[in-house]
Amino acid sequence: MSERLRSVVEQLDLRPDDRVLEIGCGHGVAATLVCERLDGGHLTAVDRSAKMIEAAIRRNAPYIEAGKAEFFVSALEDLDLGDRRFDKIFAVRVGLFHRDPDRARAIVERWLSAGGAVFAFVDSPARRGAAVETSLVTRVGRLARTSAR
Ligand SMILES: C[S@@+](CC[C@H](N)C(=O)[O-])C[C@H]1O[C@@H](n2cnc3c(N)ncnc32)[C@H](O)[C@@H]1O
Repeated sequence: MSERLRSVVEQLDLRPDDRVLEIGCGHGVAATLVCERLDGGHLTAVDRSAKMIEAAIRRNAPYIEAGKAEFFVSALEDLDLGDRRFDKIFAVRVGLFHRDPDRARAIVERWLSAGGAVFAFVDSPARRGAAVETSLVTRVGRLARTSAR
């Protein structure tokens, strides 16, 4: 299991009943770590790559069958989640959050519950070549945590 993603998920400070949205879930490794921590909560995960979502579904099949998780193919820019609301929304190494964090944040904030929070983890350019865990932790503290509280 990825120590990088374990460190990311620990920083989400999840409660068992949280409703969680992950953007750009890739193979669904962080999704698994989130589901392990939920009891009564729910995870929605999206990725624009159908191949990635297929892999994430395979990996998280028990959680999907239990009604704890769902996975959709969609780009963030085209995502329609209707009136769903989430307590935690997060993305790890998703380009839009690096290139245009204000736009990415504006897109996801409409799905935040009252008191919800957005977390974006991107590699810090200043620390390229440094340990991934370090750069991700540095970045989330500085850039990308927004609270609607
Ligand atoms: C570098 S991978 C990171 C995967 C995973 N989050 C991780 O850290 O291991 C980026 C993932 O985000 C997805 N992605 C990139 N831009 C996206 C967007 N605008 N909307 C949805 N998914 C996106 C890609 O398809 C890819 O699976």
